[in-house]
This record gives sequence, C-alpha cells and structure tokens, in this order.
Amino acid sequence: MADLSSLFRDREILLTGANGFLGKVVLAMLLDRFPHVRRVHVLVRARPDLPSNARFVRDVLDSPPLRPLLERFGRDGIASRVNVLSGDASSPLAGLEPSQLRELSSHVGLVLNCAGLVDFFAPVDLSLRANVDSVERLLELCAEIDAKLLHVSTCYVAGEADGLIEETEPIRGFYPRRKGQGDTRFSAAGELADCRETATELSRSLEGTARTEALTELGRVRAARWGWVNTYTYTKSIGEQVLDLQDEVEFAIVRPAIVESALRYPFPGWIEGGRTAAPLVLMALGGLLDWPARPDISLEIVPVDLVAAATLVVAGELLAGKARPVYHLAGTDVNPYPLEDLIQLLCTEARGNGSGRASVPIWLDPWPRVQLMSSVRAEQRRRSRRERIQRVRGLMEGLGRRNLAARLRVVELQMSFHEETFRQYLPFIQDNRYIFEAGNIREAFAGLSTEEKRALPWDPEAIAWPAYWRDCQIPGIRKWVQPEAVREWTFQL
Ligand SMILES: NC(=O)c1ccc[n+]([C@@H]2O[C@H](COP(=O)([O-])OP(=O)(O)OC[C@H]3O[C@@H](n4cnc5c(N)ncnc54)[C@H](OP(=O)(O)O)[C@@H]3O)[C@@H](O)[C@H]2O)c1
Repeated sequence: MADLSSLFRDREILLTGANGFLGKVVLAMLLDRFPHVRRVHVLVRARPDLPSNARFVRDVLDSPPLRPLLERFGRDGIASRVNVLSGDASSPLAGLEPSQLRELSSHVGLVLNCAGLVDFFAPVDLSLRANVDSVERLLELCAEIDAKLLHVSTCYVAGEADGLIEETEPIRGFYPRRKGQGDTRFSAAGELADCRETATELSRSLEGTARTEALTELGRVRAARWGWVNTYTYTKSIGEQVLDLQDEVEFAIVRPAIVESALRYPFPGWIEGGRTAAPLVLMALGGLLDWPARPDISLEIVPVDLVAAATLVVAGELLAGKARPVYHLAGTDVNPYPLEDLIQLLCTEARGNGSGRASVPIWLDPWPRVQLMSSVRAEQRRRSRRERIQRVRGLMEGLGRRNLAARLRVVELQMSFHEETFRQYLPFIQDNRYIFEAGNIREAFAGLSTEEKRALPWDPEAIAWPAYWRDCQIPGIRKWVQPEAVREWTFQL
C-alpha cells in the first residue's frame, strides 16, 4: 500500500455520524494524524431547535474528545478543515442541495459512514431507516459524486453462533441459520420488501404506543425468524447486503465488536453513550451476584481509539484500491479475556471501592456470593429472592416501617431492571460464543510503516485486560456514562 500520508494528502472526505461516539474519535484522529487532509465534510442532522452547525459545535467541537485537537490546532485551525453539511443520510442524496453535490463531486473521493442506530430493539421502521435506508441513499450519493464508501457495520451481524466467525463468509444471502452456501432461502431484497410493507401497514393502522410496540415486536420477530439476536443486528446485516448487491460503488465494511472506552486517544477512559457493556458493569458495581453467563465466553470489547485507527487504515486500503470486503475489528481471536475473570474483577473492584454491596440485603439472601450459572438457575434464584423480599416488605408495612418497606420496593425494582437488561444481553454472555477472526486488519496493519503504526495503533493482542478495565473502562463509565446511575446502583439498606 502507498503510504497513508500520501493517500490522505489533499483529500476531501465526507463523514457521517461525526456527532456519535465512534464518529467523534474518527474525526479527531483523522484531523490529528493527517494534517494534510484538505477537508472533512461532516453530515449532521439539524434538530427543530438547533441547526446542524450549532449541533456540530455543541456536540462535537466542544466535546471532551475534541479537546486535544482544539489545543493543537485551535478553533480556527479546525474550522478551516471541517465543513458542516446539513443533511440526513437516509434522505435522497443525503438531503444535499444540487450546488453542494456539485461542490462535493469534483473533490470527495471517500464517504465514511459512521451513522447508525445502535438500539437493540428499536421500532423496526426506525432501525431500517438508520441502518438500511441510509446505506441505500449513501450509495446513490457515492455514485453521483464518484466516491468510494467505507461502511461501519458490526461483528454481531453473525447472529446466533458458537465459535469462530470468519471474515470470508459471503455477505450476500447470509442469515445466521444458513446451512452452507447452497442455502439460498434468504434474500435481503425480498426480506426488506416484506418487512417494509408490514411496517407501513402497522404504521397506517395503529397510533401512539400501540404502533411503537407493534413495530418493535415486528423487528424482534423478523430478526428471530432468521437467527439474528435483535433488530439492530438484523438491520445492520441487511445494510451490508444492500452494499454487496450492487457493483457500481467500490466499498469496504469494517465490523467492530463492542466499542468501549478509549485506551489512549483522545485520553484513556473516554466513552460516551454506555449502551453496550456499561449496563453490565453498572450491575456488577451495584453488587449483582448471580450471573447468567457462560464462563468460557469472552466479551468482545475493543477500545474506541483502536476502532477509529483501524477504520482509517481500512480507508487507506480502500483509497489504494486494495480493500477486502470485510474487516472484523475484534481481539478475542488473539487475546481473550474470559467473562468469569471479568465479572470477578468487576465485583472485587466494586468491593474495593466500597460501592459493590449486594443489591439484595445480605440478611435476605441465601446465596451471597458471585457466581456464574445458567439463565434458568439464575431465574429460579431471582424468583425465590423476590418472594422473600415481598414477604418481608409486607411484614414491614404491617409493622408501620414505611421507610424500610419503600427501600425493599427499590430493591425489587432493581431486580426487575436486572431481568430486563439480561434479556437483552443473554445472547452475548450466555447463548452464543463468538470468536471473530480478525486477520484482515492485522494484515493491513502489518503493511504500515513504523511511524504509521504509531499513529494508528491496532494492537488488541497487547492489551492487558485487567489493567484496561481498572484504568480505562470502569473509571470511564463512572465519569462519562452515568455517574448518577452508579450512585443509584450502590443503594444500601
Ligand atoms: N457502539 C458500539 O459498540 C458499536 C459496535 C459495533 C458497531 N458500531 C457501529 O458504529 C457506528 C457508530 O456507532 P456509535 O456507537 O458511534 O453510535 P452513536 O453514538 O449512536 O452515533 C450514531 C450517529 O449516527 C448518526 N445518525 C443516525 N442516523 C442518521 C441519519 N439518518 N443521518 C445522519 N446521521 C445519522 C447520529 O446522529 P444524530 O445525533 O443526529 O442521531 C449519531 O451521530 C454505527 O453504525 C454502529 O452500528 C457501534
């Protein structure tokens, strides 16, 4: 590959999702590591009360991960290299004006799509709009302006699985329960047409909550029918297949695993959103003892800065005309960290901080130790605990001990929250064991010069996971995700 600096020199790149968690780090790293990139056009949706430019300033420029960049280049330095475009990736030609298209078409050679909806069980129409329509519309845009498309998907398009997930698995016609390549039962175009039609009918015939619930259920059912574990991964897989079904626009797909707090850049521990591992962490820190988790599973975590660096390496491969279709951005194939060790670390850490008291008061709990178990056993224990708590609460109410009874009610609510969270996370900690093959990014990284490797480090094999969790992830979640949630979880009787 030609060296990355030459590939990026004087380039103009269009970036979507720059105001999201990953997009911010990609933008910052791109501008920081490649000072000769001429311009990054960021597509930002306007809000009714806030135009795109103001959103960019508030959500991106003034956000913590941009601080190192601001210190280096100043506001004017960044402003001269970033152009905010008001648009929507799921609108025709991303909602851009003809004059904007003309301006982009002679200059932008790469569209980097970090936009998406990461909600596991959103109403299916919203999920399709963010994860499929936007791919279709960006393809039209790329064809119009003659650009290549680098699309951010997810490793979890694999759906139900146990074992090694290969990068060479054909994209087209994929569904998790596919029985070999002769199995042609799944057609993304057919599935998409069917699902959209049903969603439109439901939207027409229902209103308000009933409509939202029906559309949420539709996504859940359609995903489960083919073996995807949620609506998010179902729609992300269809998005990938839309890319693969066309041959007009040259593309590559990066599939990160679970993107978590930064290892080094913009600074250790930075994280935003907290949709993926954070609820599990908060439950551990809140003193959860029974874990419906398989001890041999490794949670596939990748620091956000490694994902951003790898994405830029793949962008280089795509610009050089050498990209593979798919790059897994994961590390468990070379550096696993068993869930059992992680949970023990989290619980020890919580105790060390004095915050990890059992969520159920110890005098009500016959099983006061951290344990991994099957979901059936965990459910039996939860039921038994809940019955005890309800009995004691009734007793306290009868004795007029209202405060104590109210606190026990809070414990019950916490338990319900655990149950709901686990329902969403069981595919990742109990039902499926994923080991994502990540040979393509390793190979791409191996081809870089020493200086480029330092600038865009992809080194999951070198991560000391216990130190990463102690020094980056846990403090990051405590500081940036929901400090108030941590307090809430450390409820004490
Ligand atoms: N987070 C993870 O663990 C993870 C793991 C694997 C893959 N990924 C993938 O990585 C990408 C980024 O994820 P993230 O965690 O950074 O999510 P995020 O923080 O929710 O950011 C998503 C971004 O997409 C933008 N967006 C959504 N629909 C759009 C549209 N129609 N037009 C323009 N912008 C739109 C959002 O803009 P608004 O602010 O306007 O909504 C937001 O900036 C996604 O494709 C996701 O599937 C994430």
